[in-house]
Amino acid sequence: MDVRNHHLKEDIREYWSKRSETFDLAFGHRIPPGSEFEAWAAAIRDALGAAPCRVLELACGTGEVTNVLLSLGHQVVALDFSEAMLQVAQRKHAGNDRVRFILADAENTMEPDAAYDAVVCRHLVWTLTAPEQALADWYRLLKPGGRLLAFDGNWARPTAIGRLAQGAVGALERIVGHDPHYDGAMSERHQAIMSRLPFGDGLTAERLVPLVAAAGFGDIRVLSHRPIASAQRRTADLRNRLRTLFYRRFILTAARPTVPEARKQREGGAGADPVSDTGNERRP
Ligand SMILES: C[S@@+](CC[C@H](N)C(=O)[O-])C[C@H]1O[C@@H](n2cnc3c(N)ncnc32)[C@H](O)[C@@H]1O
Repeated sequence: MDVRNHHLKEDIREYWSKRSETFDLAFGHRIPPGSEFEAWAAAIRDALGAAPCRVLELACGTGEVTNVLLSLGHQVVALDFSEAMLQVAQRKHAGNDRVRFILADAENTMEPDAAYDAVVCRHLVWTLTAPEQALADWYRLLKPGGRLLAFDGNWARPTAIGRLAQGAVGALERIVGHDPHYDGAMSERHQAIMSRLPFGDGLTAERLVPLVAAAGFGDIRVLSHRPIASAQRRTADLRNRLRTLFYRRFILTAARPTVPEARKQREGGAGADPVSDTGNERRP
């Protein structure tokens, strides 16, 4: 293993472990019941279908997305490399025999080949240290026809509207005080880690799609995160409503082809052809 990579992973693990107990208090992490929960459930159902299946959830953190997956009837193996995060998730889901938690590296899961119908992750891809290796591993452990579903965003650069919203939150916080739980997104430690990550200068769907295609995935779709953001705005206070505007988020789905790509090409079929259903995420 690359020694620099090893230190970077240790720093990432330590960073999240320190945040494990208060992670759910920061806006956007906990998925509250009601319209926001329904919006996450709808996005997952649209991507994976309604039938319960065998899901590997990568970087489950405190088990919030796990909760949505379980509500949809899926059988879940949820992994994270932070023991502290896993402990919070385990406490939350104690007694549920449809979920099993494992301590593992999402970039090298050691899970068996072709064992899962779906791989799901939220807010993991931006922090990968070796994205190509990770995608190859996820492809390997999916059954042919199995789906990858990733929720992520560009946390390195706010959008133009996001910069205005950040200014407004800054002004508000001069009156009401700083929110101690809201992301260390701008904290020094976070910045120091970001600067060493492959996507440290910003993860976009346009950057991710070619890597997903190169790993062998097909049927790549970039979907809008807007229904989730608007559900979040329905119940959030003003400061958090503004926070939903900071960064461009996206949903990516892809499938491990049932017919291997090489055979498809020999037979004259189309390769990966990403589709975007969003206004602001351009077709890559
Ligand atoms: C931003 S949190 C997201 C947690 C959860 N997915 C959610 O959305 O609530 C990032 C999580 O990724 C985990 N993580 C980061 N890199 C990882 C890796 N290589 N293997 C396993 N877990 C990883 C961290 O420990 C942390 O729990």
